[in-house]
Amino acid sequence: MHPVYALSDVAAVFSPALVFYPQWIRHNIARVVAMAGGPERLRPHVKTHKTREIVRLLLDAGITRHKCATIAEAEMLAEVGAPDVLIAYPLVGPNVGRLAQLIRRFPHTTFSTLIDNPEATRALSAGLAAAGVRVGVLLDLDVGQHRTGIAVGDAALALYELAAQLPGLTLAGFQLYDGHNNQPERALREQAVRQFLQPVLHLRAQAEAKGLPVPRLVCGGTPSFPIYAALTEIPGIECSPGTFVLHDAGYGAKYADLSGITPAAVLVSRVVSRPTATRVTLDVGNKAVAADPVLEKRVQLLDFPEYTVVGHNEEHLIVETAGAAAYRPGDVVYVLPGHICPTVALHKEVLVAEEGRIVGRWTVAARDRFLSL
Ligand SMILES: Cc1ncc(COP(=O)(O)O)c(C=O)c1O
Repeated sequence: MHPVYALSDVAAVFSPALVFYPQWIRHNIARVVAMAGGPERLRPHVKTHKTREIVRLLLDAGITRHKCATIAEAEMLAEVGAPDVLIAYPLVGPNVGRLAQLIRRFPHTTFSTLIDNPEATRALSAGLAAAGVRVGVLLDLDVGQHRTGIAVGDAALALYELAAQLPGLTLAGFQLYDGHNNQPERALREQAVRQFLQPVLHLRAQAEAKGLPVPRLVCGGTPSFPIYAALTEIPGIECSPGTFVLHDAGYGAKYADLSGITPAAVLVSRVVSRPTATRVTLDVGNKAVAADPVLEKRVQLLDFPEYTVVGHNEEHLIVETAGAAAYRPGDVVYVLPGHICPTVALHKEVLVAEEGRIVGRWTVAARDRFLSL
């Protein structure tokens, strides 16, 4: 195990507990800033950590642009002083009114959001114009994930043109999020990016020829970050990785080209039972560590003999190992989450470790759906 995760005061640490290591958070931020060639080429996604303290570390590193998915995350970002916040999520229903309140409440933050549908764009415009405020809109382009977004082509151009004519909206660029582009080999990820980027750049040129500005292309997550970071010849690229800041066992195991990024969050767990000669049960159930990766990728037990995860209940993680005899109830096991973002959202507070000791707690403030708006 990397010695930096070991806590000299672990005997007093309740479990299961999620521990953040700011030293490695700062390291990861510095690493992506260096890879991107400067903080202005970054728009990190806040959803991974949802904490005010990490937003401050990002601001301290010179990162002024931020991305989020919820109104609560946007409110937390604005409260901390983030000057430029993209809510990268389609805002519909009462969330339009919440956005208008947010814009009024935080005049020093510039907000933007996504559009991918003419009717929803008209509703967004109507809601904001009625409230007397404006928002930047980015055309959400579907580059292959087929989750949200509009296909690159004439309808996309027509939607961007529509947005230019509607009150309350200001053209702010394109988003292209390629969550499906998750091939372990960097060359394949790069090939895919280069393929879908060509028609996007053509669309941008068409829009600009019509006098519609496309000041930025907000691109990708952590797996495709090294690729967009290297595309310095394309103006206005903003890379929007999220996971990198805490990183996890899932991305760590899959993407060799992310090797300079280090996990900065670990769970302290304890053995609670050894029900058979080959079985060890830990207290990191699915209410402490996210259950969306398949069982074999759900966690990585650090400094643990070869094992197979055979069960995961609300408060129990059950593993089979030939090395079970070495473990007693109460023994500490450090655990890397397979998927950090939903793991963080399971914890109201996280412990913070510096130089091998717990030094404080941070609140996962935007874990709540509702802060004040
Ligand atoms: C729209 C959008 N942008 C950026 C990200 C960040 O991606 P990653 O978690 O791979 O860093 C996500 C992740 O879900 C996303 O949905």
